[in-house]
Amino acid sequence: MRSNLNLKVQLKRLNLVVKTCKQSGFRCETDGACVASSSLIEGHEQRVRTCITRDKLVPPGQPFFCLSAEGLLHIHCCYTDYCNSIDLKIPSGYGPGGRWGLVELVAVIAGPLFLLCLLLLLGLCLYQYQHRAYHHRQRLEVEDPSCEHLYMPKDRTLQDLIYDLSTSGSGSGLPLFVQRTVARTIVLQEIIGKGRFGEVWRGRWRGGDVAVKIFSSREERSWFREAEIYQTIMLRHENILGFIAADNKDNGTWTQLWLVSDYHEYGSLFDYLNRYSVTTEGMIKLALSAASGLAHLHMEILGTQGKPGIAHRDLKSKNILVKKNCTCAIADLGLAVRHDSASDTIDIAPNQRVGTKRYMAPEVLDETINMRHFDSFKCADIYALGLVYWEIARRCNTGGILEDYQLPYFDLVPSDPSIEEMRKVVCDQKLRPNIPNWWQSYEALRVMGKIMRECWYSNGAARLTALRIKKTLSQLSIQEDIKL
Ligand SMILES: Nc1ncnc2c1ncn2[C@@H]1O[C@H](COP(=O)(O)OP(=O)(O)OP(=O)(O)O)[C@@H](O)[C@H]1O
Ligand SMILES: [Mg+2]
Repeated sequence: MRSNLNLKVQLKRLNLVVKTCKQSGFRCETDGACVASSSLIEGHEQRVRTCITRDKLVPPGQPFFCLSAEGLLHIHCCYTDYCNSIDLKIPSGYGPGGRWGLVELVAVIAGPLFLLCLLLLLGLCLYQYQHRAYHHRQRLEVEDPSCEHLYMPKDRTLQDLIYDLSTSGSGSGLPLFVQRTVARTIVLQEIIGKGRFGEVWRGRWRGGDVAVKIFSSREERSWFREAEIYQTIMLRHENILGFIAADNKDNGTWTQLWLVSDYHEYGSLFDYLNRYSVTTEGMIKLALSAASGLAHLHMEILGTQGKPGIAHRDLKSKNILVKKNCTCAIADLGLAVRHDSASDTIDIAPNQRVGTKRYMAPEVLDETINMRHFDSFKCADIYALGLVYWEIARRCNTGGILEDYQLPYFDLVPSDPSIEEMRKVVCDQKLRPNIPNWWQSYEALRVMGKIMRECWYSNGAARLTALRIKKTLSQLSIQEDIKL
């Protein structure tokens, strides 16, 4: 133990005048404080009694030296006459014979250190355990179908799940972690098509078919945009392709970008019309359902559970799928734009000419489209819908007459027309696909022909709206006694 200064030295240091009062055994009458202390100096016990006058007490209530007299192990201050007559004991462990041996000393130093290490080790173990458990849980959630039951009961089909989860949620589809789980437990079966952005596969999930569009890593923006549009609140509609999941899986070398949707075995309307002809009823069902899908897409629904108006911008027979009940589902929303009616703005900066050249409206071809006006994009969609109607109507088997499948403008432009070639035909020559005279003899074809003409006006604003077309075709279906 290091040597200590006794109390008197200490008091001198503090510049205090000490009244030692030897005569009364160092006990005094005092107007200040009396002090008794005991300390161990170089192994010998030293006891000191003394008094300090009031004017030297700093601060008066609790003088500093009473709180911490350096080197003094035990100190007692009091403030009445003769009050320091008490005998203070040397604190245990410090007195002679109470001195700590080497073992105790080691124990005192090493003990807390050991405890600290133990605590640290325990903390580390706990952290590692938590960390491993978290990753294990994540892996299970993502890859192990046996854990699906936690949030996806085994007896629920994909349709049930989507209905349950999307109606209880925001109305914009499955929660993201469910999307990921579904996507990662799909087993791909066969490739069914190739488009501009990647391949389309048929996959299996829980005994049902799904379509998986796999984008190349270069097309990440298109993947993201399409997934974003499909998850627009309240977009779900029987005539819009049912979106199931989007997933981006990094396999170390590249990122696989998946977009999972309902699978329709008939494929696109283009595939369907190439393969089959349609009855009058079939034609009306296809046309009416396509108009219903487009009307829903275009329509703005106000309120918290509403949806913005959406323009497709790449409507064509290859981007419409045919469902088992021979109605349409509009697909490929990757180029769509959404309207924010509050600020009258469009959600992305729209580039002038996107979509498929053959289906571009005249104002898109000659770049006169007013891109600040959202309705312009809807009018361009209607022009393309008119072309799709023409493709359907040609395949309508009426009175034994049937035409082969052809793309619009097949007789006026080459197979992969340039913008310039299209512009010359559509804008300069103002030509449109041919509407045969004999269509006038059949009510359904007559109405279809009339709709087409009104979809193809050079002036976009003069064209019909999707809602108007839907109404006209509904009336026609009633007239033709068609059960929908
Ligand atoms: N959900 C689906 N169900 C069944 N078949 C599908 C589905 N989605 C796409 N297909 C098939 O895959 C093909 C390729 O589709 P994709 O959208 O990639 O290209 P595309 O529409 O042909 O061309 P583009 O790239 O110009 O849009 C379609 O033509 C269709 O035959
Ligand atoms: Mg497509």
